[in-house]
Amino acid sequence: MQQLLWVATFGGAIVAAALVLRFLPTQPGFRVRLRRSVLLYIGLLLLVAVLAVAPRIVSPTVVSGLEFAGDLLIIVISLNLLAMAIFDLAFRMLRFRYPEIVHDVVVGLAYVVAIVWLMHRSGVNIASIVATSAVATAVIGLSLQSTLGSVIGGLALQLDDSLSAGDWIELESGLQGCVKQVRWRHTLVETRDGDTLIVPNNQLLNQTIKNLGKRDESPLQRRVWVNFNVDFRYSPAEVTRVVDRALAEASIPGVAATPRPSTVCVDLAGAGRDSFAFYGTRYWLTDFANPDVASSVVRERIYVALKRARIPLAMPAAAHFVSQDEPMREERKREKAVASAMQALARVEIFRDLSHEELESLAATVDVWPVSRGEVITRQGATANWLYVLVDGEVEVRVEGAGEERRVNTLSAPNFFGEMALMAGAPREATVAALTDVRCIRVDKDHFRALLQRRPEIAGDVAAVLAERRVALMATREGLDADAKSRRVEGERTRILSTVKAFFALGD
Ligand code: CMP
Repeated sequence: MQQLLWVATFGGAIVAAALVLRFLPTQPGFRVRLRRSVLLYIGLLLLVAVLAVAPRIVSPTVVSGLEFAGDLLIIVISLNLLAMAIFDLAFRMLRFRYPEIVHDVVVGLAYVVAIVWLMHRSGVNIASIVATSAVATAVIGLSLQSTLGSVIGGLALQLDDSLSAGDWIELESGLQGCVKQVRWRHTLVETRDGDTLIVPNNQLLNQTIKNLGKRDESPLQRRVWVNFNVDFRYSPAEVTRVVDRALAEASIPGVAATPRPSTVCVDLAGAGRDSFAFYGTRYWLTDFANPDVASSVVRERIYVALKRARIPLAMPAAAHFVSQDEPMREERKREKAVASAMQALARVEIFRDLSHEELESLAATVDVWPVSRGEVITRQGATANWLYVLVDGEVEVRVEGAGEERRVNTLSAPNFFGEMALMAGAPREATVAALTDVRCIRVDKDHFRALLQRRPEIAGDVAAVLAERRVALMATREGLDADAKSRRVEGERTRILSTVKAFFALGD
């Protein structure tokens, strides 16, 4: 009768717990614990059914054994449900976080106490059991030494909070990974290559683990070094300035904006033999899952920044001394550069009608300007000194207004940009950034101006493009629709053309 009362109470509690699981956020282990309670409950139901007919079929000793099992099940289910109410519901509502292992230890101890009490109530001599089991316990303890060490290790790891899920760690073997779960016996660590390491907890406690990027009260960031070498001919001040400026210009995914990446000269001659200085760029990694991508982009930026500044990366000393440039070789290199610039310029609409000589003299004055993906080529509001001819790659044009930056257009090679500020003698109207790795040619403003004066029809072509772009800029800033936009274009084109002509003192 009493057991039927328990059966009804547990049934109600299990239904309530199932509703909680359905409608309220619970601890991750709640579902497993509920399933365990349901299984035990089914066991109890079966036992109660058996007990109803057992007295008629089996001996009283078996019946009392079954009753003992029934009481045991009632206690275990009660403890399970109570633990769920306390740990999964009350603690959750109070936002009290606890290591999962604490739940297991408390419930485990409660089981032991309850079983001992039940045995005592049934007249079992606990003291004699403890005495005989001591020897067995010692034997088992010795044979399970390492397992017990791991279990105690797991307990210590969870209780002192030194490792928790989500931490990125490096083991003494050099393997790095993200802690997924600290379990009783082992800890699961997932490497970046998608493998899972199962590290026994006692081993984890017996080595120095590096917790990557974890500092007291600081955001999760880890300092990473990128080393490179540059020839002695270039001053360390110039090298560090060029690299740091390029790295500060535009953000890099996975690299902290603050503290900024910074470069230092580490040594002037490694081992006193090399003919180059050693540099190191330090940056703070924020994306621990993809350190290789950030490191590669930082290297790309360093490479192009040095290339733009015409600072070559160092070559081994032996190769360095035998490859000194003679004047003839220099001249050949220059001729090659001019020929390649001519080819690139000729592909751009506005330069199509230039004669071979005109193209050649323009190409002799230009500058090759490589830019890596994500870098800003020119910024809105900056002073303009060059027209950029886009030879390879794709750029985006962004304009800032009302506190936010919006994309106005994207340009693909062959094309040009930077004409607005040059023709109007005003600051840059927009920011242009590289969407891919980009190769540009920079035409200096004086040479561009001289060209327009010699070939006024180019000014007309450029002004036509400029008018379209300016209207698109206005449309973005003022939100014009397609009709209003096309009405504006003609008026703007005429107005801009006459302003440009006046500015360049061109005839009609
Ligand atoms: P400038 O103002 O010198 O510098 C930024 C450049 O972005 C600008 O010249 C144009 O070349 C380019 N630009 C501005 N607006 C547009 C647009 N709507 N479409 C394409 N390019 C543009």
